[in-house]
Amino acid sequence: MVRIAVAGVTEVIDALVGFQKHETVVFTRSPRLAQSVDHMKPGGTFTYVEYHEKASLVKSLEAVHTVLCFISSFDLQTRLTDACIEAGVKLFAPNEWAAGLFTFREKDRVHQYLQEVNREKMVFEYCLFQPGNFLNYLSYPILSTTYSLILTNQWDIKNHRAIVSADGDYQIILSTVQDMAKVVAEAIEYQGTLLEIGGITGSLISNFELIKLAETIREIETVSRENLEAGKLGTSWILILPKHPNMQVNMDWGSFSEYFLAEIVFGGLKGAQDFLQKFWKEQP
Ligand SMILES: NC(=O)c1ccc[n+]([C@@H]2O[C@H](COP(=O)([O-])OP(=O)(O)OC[C@H]3O[C@@H](n4cnc5c(N)ncnc54)[C@H](OP(=O)(O)O)[C@@H]3O)[C@@H](O)[C@H]2O)c1
Repeated sequence: MVRIAVAGVTEVIDALVGFQKHETVVFTRSPRLAQSVDHMKPGGTFTYVEYHEKASLVKSLEAVHTVLCFISSFDLQTRLTDACIEAGVKLFAPNEWAAGLFTFREKDRVHQYLQEVNREKMVFEYCLFQPGNFLNYLSYPILSTTYSLILTNQWDIKNHRAIVSADGDYQIILSTVQDMAKVVAEAIEYQGTLLEIGGITGSLISNFELIKLAETIREIETVSRENLEAGKLGTSWILILPKHPNMQVNMDWGSFSEYFLAEIVFGGLKGAQDFLQKFWKEQP
């Protein structure tokens, strides 16, 4: 059993605590949450942290074996990385938890930072856990998560419709958040060095196969490659994302929602998830 710190209040907490394999400490900026016992199962605790104060961050990381980060800020993640190194943390998982969502460029920047840390010699073990799309989204409007918001995306099962690329089919990886947590809990116990990219494949399926499997989808709208490239859909409906308190965007929210979904579809079309399959096959 080791001590895991989870930075950010996120879905994997319940699963990690539920396995009772490791002690789980959840870092939060909320003093109220840190004092609350109601939200956490036995085996887990909330701890208030000041992400801006490196010394106190280092102190919070004492005796921590693994840090799982679910916070997107580049500055915060680099500060956390430095604090982890100083505190002697063994394994760091940056805020990855996806694949092919090109909207989140800070994931790439954090990856570059981590590569830079190890450029001369290996000083710090990290792993980018990439589970593809969260399968939980397909259960919407039935909730299959506790903390994470789930919503409709390009597959709107409830309203029997889907948005696809006019350029054809592509592969998708789907994993539930709960399965992702199981894999992470196992990976933490691995005695060797983890691969730099930790791929998790709950299911590998093509977009069209998925639509067929869902059975109830009756209305399919296609989007041209040009539109996807321009971050547009031009469809009769789009998902308007709920306002995200931690996301600053430099366009109106409706346009951003359209851009976000276009990026997900375009990412799949460009083979973001095929890339993962190839990467894993090439590993020894
Ligand atoms: N693969 C998929 O289909 C999929 C779908 C959804 C999300 N994801 C991934 O899951 C990860 C988490 O996403 P999310 O939307 O759940 O995260 P989020 O809501 O932005 O952040 C999670 C928690 O982190 C803390 N936090 C956020 N911003 C912070 C900041 N600037 N400083 C300090 N703490 C901050 C907050 O907790 P406190 O206020 O308690 O500190 C917040 O509740 C991301 O990597 C995302 O890409 C993947």
